[in-house]
Amino acid sequence: MDVINHDILIVGGGGAGLRAAIEISKSNPSLKTAVVSKVYPMRSHTVAAEGGSAAVLKEDDNHDLHAYDTVKGSDFLADQDAVEVFVRDATREVVQIERWGCPWNREEDGRIATRWFGGMSRKRTLHAADKTGFHLLHALFQTSLKYDTLMRYDEWFVAALLVDEGKLGGVLALDTRRGVFSILAAKAVILCTGGVGRMYAFTSNAGIKTGDGAALAYRAGAPIKDMEFIQFHPSGLLRTGILITEASRGEGGYLYNKDGKRFMENYAPSKMELAPRDIVSRSIIEEVLAGRGFEGPYGSYVQLDLRHLGEAKIMEKLPMVRELCLDFAGMDPVYEPIPIRPTMHYTMGGVHTDKDGKTPIAGLYAAGEGGCVSIHGANRLGSNSLTELLVFGARAGRSAAEYVPISKPCSSERLQSLAKREMDIIQKRYMQPGNGKEKAGAILADLRKTMDEKVGIYRTDDGLKDAVQIIQRLKERFTGIRITQQSKVFNTELTGAMELDNMLEIAHVIAMNARIRKESRGGHARKDFPKRDDEQFLHHSLVFKTPEGPKRETFPVTITKWKPEERKY
Ligand code: FUM
Repeated sequence: MDVINHDILIVGGGGAGLRAAIEISKSNPSLKTAVVSKVYPMRSHTVAAEGGSAAVLKEDDNHDLHAYDTVKGSDFLADQDAVEVFVRDATREVVQIERWGCPWNREEDGRIATRWFGGMSRKRTLHAADKTGFHLLHALFQTSLKYDTLMRYDEWFVAALLVDEGKLGGVLALDTRRGVFSILAAKAVILCTGGVGRMYAFTSNAGIKTGDGAALAYRAGAPIKDMEFIQFHPSGLLRTGILITEASRGEGGYLYNKDGKRFMENYAPSKMELAPRDIVSRSIIEEVLAGRGFEGPYGSYVQLDLRHLGEAKIMEKLPMVRELCLDFAGMDPVYEPIPIRPTMHYTMGGVHTDKDGKTPIAGLYAAGEGGCVSIHGANRLGSNSLTELLVFGARAGRSAAEYVPISKPCSSERLQSLAKREMDIIQKRYMQPGNGKEKAGAILADLRKTMDEKVGIYRTDDGLKDAVQIIQRLKERFTGIRITQQSKVFNTELTGAMELDNMLEIAHVIAMNARIRKESRGGHARKDFPKRDDEQFLHHSLVFKTPEGPKRETFPVTITKWKPEERKY
């Protein structure tokens, strides 16, 4: 098999991946670095981020306030040393990204504008209207283009990590355009592959978010952390689940039930619509369960009303919200309230890393949504994630760039033998035209139904037990999968099967962890254990893949300045 040599590979071309690539190219241009992405970088999910990026910039704000809001938002599961690093680096990163071309909105006096976001005690969310992800990714992409040493493998799918005795040697990757597998050798790999949203049916996530990085790392022996914590964003557009940004509420939008009441008054009187997402999402479900939701052909919902903001403000600050409503719901928020319900939005867990993106495998790093430092703990505050991509993308890049010159490459023979073993698995698992009758689409539909119904906003022991059993059965069904598409060129049936395999692997861990965590904390709400239980569960969960199945361990939470307290808004 072809071997192409590099120093560092970055898997994923979104915000974290490109930020890491720039940092490496800047700090050591002699390193041969490449970004390997299953889509063209500007199609990464970062492009879909809307509302903004949080950082301390204004005189009435400081790093301790941002850190405390983040820790409280996390329901005290975030590692506070990591949060302190995050808020400090954040200020530098948001200024840096503007110099690279991100057009932050401005106040009247010309200073960078900030807006309110849920759970934040200060107005600290920088934004570019409601297309922040698009502009941020553009700024990163165009900056990455100026580094001649930075290579790209666009539309290459990474099928396996090649790890030799606990040390990273490269990846086995499929060039989807030609249908050819190659070994991309490297001393370091940074996984920046995003979250797992597509295992849910109702989600704001792009089709590419299939938990690839978590599954790659997990199969290679790295632990994945806190996977039970899934974030549901309160305002998914009815029918599609498309994100209607929290900035709509940050700019002054109201949530109404069918009685015309701003129901957040009952749940978070001091923050109202700007309570953290876990709380607002649960409040919407409570309203619906109490019969105070609206009913329609696409299910129950509540209304997000922007009409009082007026057309001029909507067009200036929320133009994409209007566009999305017109295109995907056939209604205009200037004149009508938006029908919304909670949509799966974000994965708080991911590949276990330290503050520099290092995993327990030498040479393997992770950053962004696919990594778990952890700064979000049990619930992420809106607008902390774009900043996270910048901060931890840069830190992982720097750390990998320091590691590579002092590490030795894996031999070509060893890589060939590791790749052959992986190719044998791929042949057998996905490509052998056997007697299998199973179709990936049918298994995926069942997985999504299970995750929506049994591993959603509210969870119970019975539901989670069922979910684990169903997922195990789906994994068995997967072994009978049959791929009918014969062409090598863009064989989406093959890549779809590999993505489904990744989702099944991670869904199993999510459901298993959620069942074991017999408490309610942040985004993990157990009907049968409605209280947070610090005595028994103030810890992270780390899960390792073993031949007997997922093996769970606990890992301490780092507490520096902020003692866990009851979370009230
Ligand atoms: O609502 C939003 O604009 C989402 C932001 C985020 O997830 O950080």
